[in-house]
Amino acid sequence: MLKEVIATRFITPLREGGSLPGLVEADDFGTYVMKFAGAGQGRKTLIAEVVCGELARRLGFRMPRLVTVELDPVLGLGEPDQQVQELLRSSGGTNLGMDFLSGALGFDPLAFEVSPAEAGRILWFDALVNNVDRSWRNPNLLMWRGDLWLIDHGATMIWHHNWPGAQASAERPYDASDHALATFAPDVRGAAAELAPLVTEELLTEVTAAVPDAWLATEPGFDTPDDLRRAYATPLLTRAAVIHDRVTGIEEGK
Ligand SMILES: Nc1ncnc2c1ncn2[C@@H]1O[C@H](COP(=O)(O)OP(=O)(O)O)[C@@H](O)[C@H]1O
Ligand SMILES: [Mg+2]
Repeated sequence: MLKEVIATRFITPLREGGSLPGLVEADDFGTYVMKFAGAGQGRKTLIAEVVCGELARRLGFRMPRLVTVELDPVLGLGEPDQQVQELLRSSGGTNLGMDFLSGALGFDPLAFEVSPAEAGRILWFDALVNNVDRSWRNPNLLMWRGDLWLIDHGATMIWHHNWPGAQASAERPYDASDHALATFAPDVRGAAAELAPLVTEELLTEVTAAVPDAWLATEPGFDTPDDLRRAYATPLLTRAAVIHDRVTGIEEGK
């Protein structure tokens, strides 16, 4: 279960990425980066954030804590930007929040050094979840208090857009040629040896249980949220065992 908070104030939109998340203050006095349920691919993006974010944390990656944010669309009334106002208006109910890492810097592959072990672990994880949003142009990695933190797992698990073809899609290779850490001699094999055994059915059950029912309830072809949770777990379970052999576009880790 993710902690539940209630948004009390909309602070500002964050315009660096593509999806226009917002910074909000909540009833627990926390400050959160909020991803809107009413955004374009809203619901699936949020599911991907929770499944991959909670999996990453359990595999030992630094990943800001996730919460659910209950939003009263009335908070948008004072918002001058029309696009933001519309997002707030269409996102009443349960949204996703992430602890705001105040003072974090965007990761710059030219300015920071990453060890082959850490690069390998992150690259292997991105291959596992098929993250297409960790390129050197847009790393979605933050440097905070001297450490590397993972954020933004909205563009992962492409197979959840077509469930009948999910297993076949999940068996495809991962092209790492544009990956933000491709030039750090990532030790993908070492990472796989360490991390793949941790990706068990039990762990994936725990991770998918964290996704709120509200985002899972309306998927065509699934009778219950738990059926859909199992569908999220299966491709990850199969992929964990084989993906290190299917990473293309890098020298190391072969
Ligand atoms: N937890 C966080 N702490 C600090 N800054 C963040 C955090 N999450 C996101 N950001 C900032 O907001 C930007 C957009 O967030 P992101 O999750 O990448 O959304 P998207 O790319 O889908 O718009 C990031 O590139 C980063 O600069
Ligand atoms: Mg982003």
